[in-house]
Amino acid sequence: MDITLDREYLKGYAENRDIDQILTDIEKAHIALERKTGVGSEFTGWMDLPSKTHERSLEEINDLGEEVRGRSQCLVSIGIGGSYVGIHASLEFLAGEQKLPVYYMGNNLSSGQVVDLLKILEHKDFTVVVISKSGTTTEPALAFRIIYKFMKNKYSTTEIKKRIICITDPKEGALRQICDREGYRSFPINPDVGGRFSVLTPVGLVPLAIAGADIKKLMQGARKAQIGCAQMDMDKNVAYQYAAVRFILDKKGKEIEVLSTFYQRLSLIQEWWKQLHGESLGKDGKGLFPTSLSFTADLHSMGQLLQEGPRTILETFLAVEETGDKVIIPRFEENLDNFNCVAGKDIDYVNKQAFKATAAAHYEGGVPNMTINIPRFDADCLGQLFYFFMKGVGLKGYLMGINPFNQPGVEAYKKKMFQLLGRK
Ligand code: PA5
Repeated sequence: MDITLDREYLKGYAENRDIDQILTDIEKAHIALERKTGVGSEFTGWMDLPSKTHERSLEEINDLGEEVRGRSQCLVSIGIGGSYVGIHASLEFLAGEQKLPVYYMGNNLSSGQVVDLLKILEHKDFTVVVISKSGTTTEPALAFRIIYKFMKNKYSTTEIKKRIICITDPKEGALRQICDREGYRSFPINPDVGGRFSVLTPVGLVPLAIAGADIKKLMQGARKAQIGCAQMDMDKNVAYQYAAVRFILDKKGKEIEVLSTFYQRLSLIQEWWKQLHGESLGKDGKGLFPTSLSFTADLHSMGQLLQEGPRTILETFLAVEETGDKVIIPRFEENLDNFNCVAGKDIDYVNKQAFKATAAAHYEGGVPNMTINIPRFDADCLGQLFYFFMKGVGLKGYLMGINPFNQPGVEAYKKKMFQLLGRK
């Protein structure tokens, strides 16, 4: 695996000797995960998905992508939570690879976003991918109604049939019924993979391939991580190191984990990470509160709280070794701002010094931190990153003694909302 974990600034907080003390529990959790004998194991299909996904299926999805790009000026991707954020995060991460613009719908109930999007779509030919595992979620269901009506005014029934693709449960749910009745093209979501673990299923692969991302390379990275993160050897398994450290610090009284980055292209990876961790591990009165900060901007606001606020924070930096972008800082003869010291250097050089300084200062201020190093912004590294986080969550959930693969708590507000809406 190319992703590495730097644990220098955990000294005095969570060290190898702390990991050694929970090694037996880690081994038990590892066995339960790998043998699929733990709680919620019916939803661990994501674990062997990379090795089980055939190149042929990826090629078929790529062919569909080419076909869709041939007749569309943009894609509308409808979905929320696990059926949305991984797609958007991937395309932000892989910004340079995108061949077709993607707009998102059904990821909130904000009417302004719909109004703006429909204005754009008036003048464009487009295809819609509707993604809902359950096929019954409020936001994508309403978005589908709206876009379908809009398409009826723009396209013939035959044309609509070509322009709607559904990704949903193979058998159940309203979306499956609509899709089968209307004869839309569809892809199944593996029933043994939960929403937030589904980015490497057709949920992520289909819209990503349509947008032009390299899904073969994505899967290649995920396969590397599947092998790397299946080892019980703690020195080799970075996902287990990450999970163990989070568990130890959680036990020692840390309450908040901040995922900090210095790159805009990681802002939606931060959102994906929050969902994965919040929904998987926030149960039974337990769990770190996952939050995120975007530096250097947030150093000018939240930096104060991190440095001197309550010492209940653990920080994880997401760093990128080679960004692939170059912006050289110009020299000013007068040097009034005194920054000729960095003239001629890439702006990322300054960004990296800001990162080093921040990690050291936060550690000295009482915030233990570690760094996940990503070599590059490419699909291979992205596949590794997704798998690394998912495997780490699985292990930490089992260490905590909870089921990391369900989400019973999200039903409470829905019941009340449906009552208010008069929905049966
Ligand atoms: O992780 C989850 O299970 C959720 O975030 C779901 O992905 C989200 O609620 C959307 O569900 P569905 O795909 O069934 O519409």
